[in-house]
Amino acid sequence: MRIAVVGCGYLGATHSAALAVLGHQVVGYDVDEARIEALRRRQAPMYEPGLQKLLAELPTESLSFTTAPRDLDGCDVFFLCAGTPEQGDAGATNLDYLLAAFEAVLPSLRPGSLVVGKSTVPLGTAGGLHERLTERCPGALLAWNPEFLREGHAVEDSLHPDRLVYGVVDGDPAALAVLHEVYAGIEAEGCPVVVTDLPSAEVAKLAANCFLALKLSYINAVAELCENGGAEVADVAEVIGRDPRIGPAFLGSGIGFGGGCLPKDLRALAHRADELAATGLSGLLRAAEAVNDSSRARLVDLVVREVEPGARIAVLGAAFKPDSDDVRSSPALAVAAELDRRGYEVVVTDPIALANAAQYCPGPVYEPDLGTALSGSSAVLLLTEWPQYAELDPHYAAGLVASQRMYDGRKALPTERWRSAGWRMHSTGSPREVGETSYV
Ligand code: UDX
Repeated sequence: MRIAVVGCGYLGATHSAALAVLGHQVVGYDVDEARIEALRRRQAPMYEPGLQKLLAELPTESLSFTTAPRDLDGCDVFFLCAGTPEQGDAGATNLDYLLAAFEAVLPSLRPGSLVVGKSTVPLGTAGGLHERLTERCPGALLAWNPEFLREGHAVEDSLHPDRLVYGVVDGDPAALAVLHEVYAGIEAEGCPVVVTDLPSAEVAKLAANCFLALKLSYINAVAELCENGGAEVADVAEVIGRDPRIGPAFLGSGIGFGGGCLPKDLRALAHRADELAATGLSGLLRAAEAVNDSSRARLVDLVVREVEPGARIAVLGAAFKPDSDDVRSSPALAVAAELDRRGYEVVVTDPIALANAAQYCPGPVYEPDLGTALSGSSAVLLLTEWPQYAELDPHYAAGLVASQRMYDGRKALPTERWRSAGWRMHSTGSPREVGETSYV
């Protein structure tokens, strides 16, 4: 099939490559000249393992990029992959880019063309677009097909998703037939397909991400209890996670979640839930957000209580998670910025995210070399669990620092090994010496 992908950022760049791998002839469109030029040279617009290689392997006959909307003429399917960032800070969604993407495809549509929304949108957006489409291009079809890819695993998640969601109007057989053809290669591998209406597909995406956020905030709230009362959250999480009704994923406690999706999606769903008088849901989501914020704040408070004012602090990690150079809503950077604000000399290191970090969060010193970052520090904070930090030799690190104090905000280090190398260890959710905790 001939497929247009409109918006070539995180989602669109990966999606267009994945569709080409599935055997389609794909044209990626974006208004950003520099991004399109880079993609033509097969440069990925962000760090994403495997994407660069995949782009390089695909010939221009199966994957091309353009800034000219007329190059979309002749396509059968038009994926809308524009960003839907937060508008203000109360959870409202900025739909300008999505609406611009929608407008860009209209001149290329014919009766039977299928427009497919992939962007994450508030409940009611797809229905509104369907009305506009029916008015302006009678005979063209609309579907919503949310994307669940994780940064750092985007290629794998696009080619081998857990499920495919086809949101269509009144079970529209024509739209479904096109979607089945688009994803034939993935369906053939046995991937489950869930057919829904448009609003359910929109909600499914946000509700799935928010469920993950709730799970994380739950374990982080339990971590606080464990830390204060002398229990070990890692053991508690293992017991909980072995219940197949719960499962072990997303029970890794620490300084909480960040990135371009979970924090934004939590606020977006809460905002729309309030608008639609679903106050039970908005209350739950806002509580999860508060726990997430407090997970970072608790570590900052502890460091401020224990480390002398103005001391040099090494922060290991800036990215919101390993295998990514994304620093949006990064918990690690939030902690670093707050300690900087409180007068510490904060030195942040990260294998690949420093350029983004310096742009997003001026203030701390950014140091690419791990040894230099550790040198002379009075405390070390491990805040993004890159393998090279988790595997750091405590004896080597001891030889560099001014004081052997480690705060493990990701529970990534073998605590006993570090203790026996002379380090004073704090690990989030592990027992702290708080005096009397006996209840009887
Ligand atoms: C998420 C969803 O997983 C994905 O399905 C959706 O499409 C986009 O949002 P992503 O933001 O790339 O993906 O990262 P994810 O791997 O889900 O991690 C999110 C955050 O949770 C990170 O900050 C991570 O460090 C944190 N996390 C994850 C934990 O703190 N503990 C865990 O056990 C797992």
